[in-house]
Amino acid sequence: MANYPVQKITKSRIAEVDFSNLEFGKHISDHMLVCVFENGSWGQPSIVPFGDLSLSPAMLSLHYGQAIFEGMKAFRMNDGRITIFRPDKHYLRLNRSLDRMCMPTLPKEIFLEGLSQLIRLDEQWLPGTHGSSLYLRPFSFASESRLGVKISDKYHFIILTSPAGSYQPKPYRLKVEKHYARTVEGGTGFAKCAGNYGGAYYPTRMAVREGYDQVLWTDGKEHQYIDEVGMMNVMFMIDGVLHTPQLNTAILEGITRDSILTIARDMGLKVEERRIKVSEIEQAFKENRITEAFGVGTAAVVAPIAAINIEGTDYTVQAPDSNSFQLKAKQLLHDMRMGVSHDKYGWNYIVG
Ligand SMILES: Cc1ncc(COP(=O)(O)O)c(C=O)c1O
Repeated sequence: MANYPVQKITKSRIAEVDFSNLEFGKHISDHMLVCVFENGSWGQPSIVPFGDLSLSPAMLSLHYGQAIFEGMKAFRMNDGRITIFRPDKHYLRLNRSLDRMCMPTLPKEIFLEGLSQLIRLDEQWLPGTHGSSLYLRPFSFASESRLGVKISDKYHFIILTSPAGSYQPKPYRLKVEKHYARTVEGGTGFAKCAGNYGGAYYPTRMAVREGYDQVLWTDGKEHQYIDEVGMMNVMFMIDGVLHTPQLNTAILEGITRDSILTIARDMGLKVEERRIKVSEIEQAFKENRITEAFGVGTAAVVAPIAAINIEGTDYTVQAPDSNSFQLKAKQLLHDMRMGVSHDKYGWNYIVG
C-alpha cells in the first residue's frame, strides 16, 4: 500500500462548517491530493493543505479545454467503516475521459490509494448523519504554459473532497430540447470533460427562464431521440417495463444508471435499453402508460420527474409512492452502502 507524503494543515477549517445545513460543494475539506504529469510520466502524488495553486495564465486547459473530472461519494457505514461507492467504475470512466481528450491516463494505484489516504486523513469531514456523504472530486487538466494550439505535455491530477448533506431534490420539471445540443454522436458526450458542462449552461438557462429546472437533451442530429438530463441519465417506466436510452458516444455512462439497471434486472423487472423517440414518450403520456419518470445520478441517486415539456405541452408524472420502483431501488442502494443489506455486487470499496 502506497503512503504518499503528507503536508498537514496547521489549523483545520472544519469549525466553519455547519453540518446541519450543508450547501453542495461549498466547503472543501482540509487537504487535497496533487500529482503532476511531466516528461512522459506521472510523478509522485502528495497530499497538501487545500489552497490556491500557482499556475500560468497561459496554461493550455484554460484556452483549449483539456480538462476532465469525476464525481463520486464516500459514505459512513452503520458500523463506522467508510465505503467508496464503485470507485473502480469511476476510475475506468476517468481514463476513458482522459483518453478522449488526448490526456495521459492515470495509474489505478494513484486513484484508489490517493482517495483512500485523503479520506482517512480528512475523515472528520465525512458527516455521520442519515443520507450524508463525502463528495469526491478527482479531476485533471492541461497545465503546460503555451499559447499555441497543441496537446499539452504537462498535466495536473487533483482530488478534492467536500461534505454533502442528504439531497432530496424537488421533483424536476424538464423541457425537451429540440434546438440546442449538448453534444452529438462522435463528440465528447461520453467523456466527463469540462466543455460539455459549459456548453450546456446557455440552453439550460433558457429552459429555467421558461419555468423548467433542466433540459432533457435529444440527439444533436435530428432532435428525435432522448439522450439524458443535465447531470443525470433518464429512465421511464412504461407499461411496467423500465426504459432508458441505450448508450452512445453522446451520452455519459452513469455509474448510477448501471447500478439501477442491475438492481431492476435482479428484481425480475423487464428492462429495455434502446433508442427512445420523443414522439414515443409523448404518445405514452397521452395514453397514460408512463407510471414513473426519473433521473439517476450520483448527486441524488434517484430524482423524480414531475413534468416534461414536449413541443410546448407539459405532460405530468405522478409523484412516486413507497411502492414505486425508483424509491425501492434507492432504498436498496442506500442499505447496501450502509452495510444493512448484503453487498451482493461488491460495490462497496472499504477504506482501510
Ligand atoms: C451529463 C451527466 N449524465 C449523467 C450523469 C450521472 O452519472 P453518475 O451516475 O455516474 O453520477 C452525470 C453525473 O455525473 C452527468 O454529468
